[in-house]
Amino acid sequence: MQFLVNVLRQDGVDNALISLLQTVGVACKEINFRLHQGALAGVLGSTEDENVQGEVQKKLDVISNDLLKDLLLQSGLVKALASEEEDDIVVGDIDGQFLIAFDPLDGSSNIDINAMVGTIFSIYRANDSLVVDESSFLQPGSLQVAAGYVVYGPATLLVLTTGNGVKMFTLDQTLGEYLLTVKKVNIDPDTQEFAINMSNQRHWAKPMQDYIDDLLKGSEGPRGKNFNMRWVAAMVADVHRILCRGGLFSYPWDRRAPEKPGKLRLMYEANPMAMLIEQAGGRASTGTQRILDIQPEQIHQRVAVVLGAANEVGAVEQYYSHQR
Ligand code: AHG
Ligand code: MN
Ligand code: MN
Ligand code: MN
Repeated sequence: MQFLVNVLRQDGVDNALISLLQTVGVACKEINFRLHQGALAGVLGSTEDENVQGEVQKKLDVISNDLLKDLLLQSGLVKALASEEEDDIVVGDIDGQFLIAFDPLDGSSNIDINAMVGTIFSIYRANDSLVVDESSFLQPGSLQVAAGYVVYGPATLLVLTTGNGVKMFTLDQTLGEYLLTVKKVNIDPDTQEFAINMSNQRHWAKPMQDYIDDLLKGSEGPRGKNFNMRWVAAMVADVHRILCRGGLFSYPWDRRAPEKPGKLRLMYEANPMAMLIEQAGGRASTGTQRILDIQPEQIHQRVAVVLGAANEVGAVEQYYSHQR
């Protein structure tokens, strides 16, 4: 069994980035512990507060955010951080080599039903300017130097890319170490499984409505095969399933809030997942554009997401391109 640090060294990852990834790993071990204590630690339920996106914060959203923030700021490696649960960027060490954006707890509505949740992170190298502000973060996802998530399920896994494929590590709860359990993840280009919140179908754009209608027609329809559906309601768990057994995931554009092109956030949900999916041979698109090419305008901006099996993402793009 290989430890996280050794694997990263063998991959030629530099020491500073290894230290940063270890720090994220330590914070996530702590989050994992609190999650598993559940009601015993009094951590379930909501706070009285809302985050910048107008969502009521769960207690564990805040606890997870504070754990990550404190450890990352103490590390001296981070020039600034951005989080779903922080209105503005948080400035760290001016000599820090990295910028990190994270979703401290993804799928937090699952906490109170004891279902899967996770932590998603995206890492950029900081430049050596003496000024750091929101604009420092506004880089396309193609410039990420590392991206990953920790999924807290029946087992706790760290899934990571540093630009050399995707690896999975399982947290050994007795050793307290992440051990390599999957060396290289590959997503099959074809699939017969999709994940989307079907209750929103009437709000989607026509191409997405038509695409899903055609999937539901099964082997008699234009796609000529039957499709199965899954929806965990935590992006981290739905993407994890795709990395494990393939499939397509989408949270598409929705006409209810046209100024917000989707529900998911570009900087700390879509971009890190897009890097993982591409590194595993899949594709990640808005329906009309590669996600990793988007020039961000705000740290909390939202984006339409279609990702997973390469040919299936291509099929969705075909529906969108016929519409234009
Ligand atoms: P978060 O808990 O970090 O706010 O993210 C929740 C997101 C995402 O994880 C998931 O795919 C989606 O919300 C589920 O949305 P619905 O409740 O609309 O299905
Ligand atoms: Mn949230
Ligand atoms: Mn999320
Ligand atoms: Mn969250």
